[in-house]
Amino acid sequence: MSITVLSPSEIQAKLQEKSYPAQKSYLAMYSSWLGGIVKDPGLMMVPVDDHLVHRGDGVFEAIKVVDGRVFLLQEHLERLVASAAQIGLPLPMPMEEMREVILKTTAATGARYAVLRLYVSRGPGGFTTNPYDSVASQMYLIVTSYTPLADEKYLAGVKVGRSQVPPKEPWLAKIKTCNYLPNVLMKKESVDRKLDFTIGIDGQGFLTEGSTENIVLIDKNKNLLRPKLRQILKGTTMMRSFELAQSLLSEGFLSSIQEKDLTEKDIFEAREVMMIGTTLDVLPVTEYEGQKIGEGRQGAVSAQLLKLLREDMKQGPKSTPVYA
Ligand SMILES: Cc1ncc(COP(=O)(O)O)c(C=O)c1O
Repeated sequence: MSITVLSPSEIQAKLQEKSYPAQKSYLAMYSSWLGGIVKDPGLMMVPVDDHLVHRGDGVFEAIKVVDGRVFLLQEHLERLVASAAQIGLPLPMPMEEMREVILKTTAATGARYAVLRLYVSRGPGGFTTNPYDSVASQMYLIVTSYTPLADEKYLAGVKVGRSQVPPKEPWLAKIKTCNYLPNVLMKKESVDRKLDFTIGIDGQGFLTEGSTENIVLIDKNKNLLRPKLRQILKGTTMMRSFELAQSLLSEGFLSSIQEKDLTEKDIFEAREVMMIGTTLDVLPVTEYEGQKIGEGRQGAVSAQLLKLLREDMKQGPKSTPVYA
C-alpha cells in the first residue's frame, strides 16, 4: 500500500468532495481560530491538537432558535461561563462578544429555526493533558437546521428505562463539559434497548437525568417536582418551565412546585412524567421499564407546559431576536 503525502490544495479538494447525509443540516460554523464563518460543511474543522479533541477539554451549550429568536441565550451563556470557570478555562472573548458572534453567525445563515452548538475549547497546543500547553482558548459555533419532533410523539409520549451507566460524580454532573462519555453510553443503551431515553440513578437510589435532558414529574397530589440540583445539570429548559408553571397553580392544574429527591417509585406512582430539554421542550413519558405511566398518553399538565414554553420561545422576554 502506498500512502500519499497530500498538498494543501489536494486536502481542500478532498475535504470538499466528501459528503454524508448529516452535513445537509450544517449551515455555518464560526471559528475563532480562523477568525470567521465557514459555510462549506466539508471545511468545518477544529485543529486536531486542540485539547477539545484529544482530551475533551472544553465546555459547551446547545441552544435553540425558534422563529428567528434565540431562546434563553443569556441563561446558556451564563451556564457556559460558569462551566468554564469551574475548570479554570479562560474565555476566548468576553461574553458580550460571544453573544454578538452567535447572533451574527446565525443571521449569516438566514435560518429562522436552528440549533446552535457553542464550544469553548482549551485550544491548540500539543497532545498532552497539560492545559497550559495550549496557545489560547477558542470558540467554535456550529449552526445546524432544526427539525422538531413530530406532534404525535408529544401526544403518545416516550419510553424510558433505567440506565446501567454509573452517574457522574456531583461536581462533574454540574459542569457542561465536552467530556460526555457517560452521556454517550446512556444514549447508546437507550438506542440498543429500543427506548427513547434512559435515566440515571445515583448511589442513594435517587433519579438523576437523561443523556441530555432532565426528568420531572407530577405526583398524585398534583405537586410538580424536579430532582434537587445536586448531581444533575441545571437544565435551562427545566428551570424556565418551572417558572412558567407558576401560572398553572391558580388554574388548578398544580397544587405546588418543588424540588425533591425522586425515586423510581415516584415515577411509577406519578400522574405525569416528563423529559425536558432544549431540543425536546416537554415530552411526556408514558412507559418506564415496560410499565405504563399515568394515563399512557400526554397528560393535561404536560400539554399546558409545552404550550407555555412554546409561547415563551416565540414572544417571551427570554428570547432574543436574531434579525433585529
Ligand atoms: C446532561 C444534561 N442534562 C440536562 C440537559 C438539559 O438542559 P437544557 O434544558 O439546558 O438543554 C442537558 C442539555 O444538553 C444535558 O446535557
